[in-house]
Amino acid sequence: MTLLDGKQIAAEIRAELRTQIEAIVATGRRAPKLAIVIVGHNPASETYVANKLKACAEVGICAEKIAFEDSITEAQLLEEVAKLNADNDIDGYIVQLPLPSHINEQTILSAIDYRKDVDGLTPENVGRTVQGLPSIVSATPRGISELLSRYHIATEGKHVVVIGRSNIVGKPMAILLMQRPYLTLPRLSAAAVGNATVTICHSKTSNLKQICLTADIIIVAAGSPALVTADMVREGATVIDVGITRVEDANSPKGYRLAGDVDFDAVAPKCAFITPVPGGVGPMTIVSLLQNTLQAYNKQ
Ligand code: GUN
Repeated sequence: MTLLDGKQIAAEIRAELRTQIEAIVATGRRAPKLAIVIVGHNPASETYVANKLKACAEVGICAEKIAFEDSITEAQLLEEVAKLNADNDIDGYIVQLPLPSHINEQTILSAIDYRKDVDGLTPENVGRTVQGLPSIVSATPRGISELLSRYHIATEGKHVVVIGRSNIVGKPMAILLMQRPYLTLPRLSAAAVGNATVTICHSKTSNLKQICLTADIIIVAAGSPALVTADMVREGATVIDVGITRVEDANSPKGYRLAGDVDFDAVAPKCAFITPVPGGVGPMTIVSLLQNTLQAYNKQ
């Protein structure tokens, strides 16, 4: 069993990005700039945003956090989005999700200029991905693609089971895996992601275990701790765990631990490759945001 070390791969990619951005700045051009909009005080969101800001600083991307209180209205937030769309100094921006319940997330996401949508969540970018046009791909599927590529895990002709149908992970992941390689993502380092046979499973799938047992690769993004158990995974499979649920843990100084969607201890011995939680997909998601920001900058 080989552990897919997202922390290590992400550090390598950050070093590559730093070199590329230094080269840009050395020519006299300004550094790429990312803005991160956060509404309210969701503790998990605050941690993610802090990690994203730190990663930007590490590679030389200028990052600005724009924070609003929960009381901001949808109309006011739309005004802020319009300002960011018009700001020529900002190459890309994200609106950290979730948003408070009085704000319609889809309304906000749809208002983002797709050229600045470095989360790849606008209908325009998703549509472009589906149609195989160059697009900005959402960070987690991009990061998983990069992780598979850098470990030379080919997807061509493989049966990949994606568990979860979210707009942020499951749907775009399935599209990238099934389509011809290189259409939407910039050329990845080694093997291309794509040309797989994909099955998408979700909370209403009735025979999840039987389907998973036919998978060469399982990608689980269900937000359901230990959903994937050893009896669902065949020998030699690759398992990618996107789950990061906070569960109470009195033994942890923080009072919680991060739980993946895979029963790691039981599943890992059966796998050819598996991602840990934390240290697997999470760091790849953050580095993908940096890559997307540089992509948006280079398009300007
Ligand atoms: N919340 C959890 N993951 C993400 C993400 O990738 N982007 C945004 N904007 N919000 C999130």
